Amino acid sequence: MSKKIQTVMFIMSALLISGCSDDAQSNDQNNRHMMNQNSNEGNHHMMNQNSNEGNHHMMDDSTMGNGHMSHDNVVSLKDSTGENELNIPPLLTSDAADRTEYTIKAQTGKVEIFDGVTTETLGYNGDLLGPVLQFKKGETVKIHTINELDEETTFHWHGLEVSGEADGGPHKTLKPGEKELIEFEVTQEAATLWFHPHPEGKTSEQVYKGLAGLIYIEDSNSAKLEIPKEYGKNDIPLVFQDRVFNEQGQLDYKSVMNEDGTIGDTLLVNGTVNPVLTVGKEQVRLRLLNGSNARNFTFKLNTGESFVQIATDGGFLNKPVKLNEVTLTPSERAEIIIDFSQLKSTDSLSLINEDGSILLPFDVLDQEVEDTQTTKRLNDFAVTDEEKNMPVTKNIELFGMMEHVEINGKKFDPDRIDFTQKQGVTEVWEIYNKKDMMGGMIHPFHIHGAQFKILSRDGVEPQENERGWKDSIAVHPGEKVKIAIQFKHKGVYMFHCHILEHEDNGMMGQIEVK
Ligand code: C2O
Ligand code: CU
Ligand code: CU
Repeated sequence: MSKKIQTVMFIMSALLISGCSDDAQSNDQNNRHMMNQNSNEGNHHMMNQNSNEGNHHMMDDSTMGNGHMSHDNVVSLKDSTGENELNIPPLLTSDAADRTEYTIKAQTGKVEIFDGVTTETLGYNGDLLGPVLQFKKGETVKIHTINELDEETTFHWHGLEVSGEADGGPHKTLKPGEKELIEFEVTQEAATLWFHPHPEGKTSEQVYKGLAGLIYIEDSNSAKLEIPKEYGKNDIPLVFQDRVFNEQGQLDYKSVMNEDGTIGDTLLVNGTVNPVLTVGKEQVRLRLLNGSNARNFTFKLNTGESFVQIATDGGFLNKPVKLNEVTLTPSERAEIIIDFSQLKSTDSLSLINEDGSILLPFDVLDQEVEDTQTTKRLNDFAVTDEEKNMPVTKNIELFGMMEHVEINGKKFDPDRIDFTQKQGVTEVWEIYNKKDMMGGMIHPFHIHGAQFKILSRDGVEPQENERGWKDSIAVHPGEKVKIAIQFKHKGVYMFHCHILEHEDNGMMGQIEVK
């Protein structure tokens, strides 16, 4: 990456922060204008042209933009040049031959993300990100968690149905050098979950620097389904994260942090910059995780052709759902299958974002491969009439922006329990994203320790691809979402906005399940 681009990136990120904070009014106009231009490709263009001129121009012009930063209006990602083969994280091997027992260390690392530049990072059992953990439904899993960082951390299993004790929320901090053995039974169906740290007020920085990994749960259903399942070949993990690298090629979180969600112009997929994925002419399953702090992604093929979604956050959909695009807000997952043998042309094919930026180019190998059929019937997920008719017993109101975010008018207090619910009893929660004067923004709302069902969005049944288990849900400004949720285990669990800076700013509450 050239010095010039890096400098421009640095200036831009500095503006992103200062322009949005309360005590930087003078920058506000420039920032707004800049953001506005970004949506019109100003920025995208500028970065690709490798020129400082565009930037200057934008700053001198004093036309006002329209309102505060929204996530529809953020800096575009630079196109992937496709020069680096995508990194496929290793599958973690068990410490024992006859059972699942893992050792996971949170550690500091150094990685050559850009040629010839060493970037300081964090990782699990490695320099950046983590290995994939595999659990089987019904088994007891032991995990030795070890904190080798020089600060506190926790090990949170996002989407996993475990006791509050094992969940790794902000109460379960490990000091530097500390270890803890976690043990739990896997009680939920096949799904793609993930793990990441959750220390109070520090989650965003630790995730930003590289702490995140995937968890695959398999069960008897997933074992017998005819879907692509050769890891790294036609079953590909894809962790999408946007970042800002400074002039030295470092992830200087403090200098780019935005209270409303830190957004970057550089995409890493599985920690790889400018990735390309080589696939056969066959059905390929992509397990998508939006692992960003704040950016929303809308994934589609550059040809506009369709694919199918087969799984949501917490399990398989009942049948493959045909889509032209799928949107994931931070922490949401979707498993999709692209049939590379059926596409019109496989030349310069790529997965792109809503605004057209190239996220992941595909290099499609020429030889035909024996094809997998996708089973028509994948699962037996159902919302019962009883659940549909249950009254709302918990109300969640999401409100605010920047450091003023809150839930039900309150900020997180580790000593306050906001709600209680009985173990094994289904309740209906209504989550309302209350607009502010500026219109508001999407809040991805997440609940620990359980998978839930979406009953309705503003009174309407959810889209087909949301009729499956969820642990995170995008709630749009002004929208009211009803979900049915049951906790299988006891303990204290967090619920929060998964824009990590909102979480760290206190957009989080606690429920105790008794
Ligand atoms: Cu992804 Cu509270 O977590
Ligand atoms: Cu979680
Ligand atoms: Cu939020």
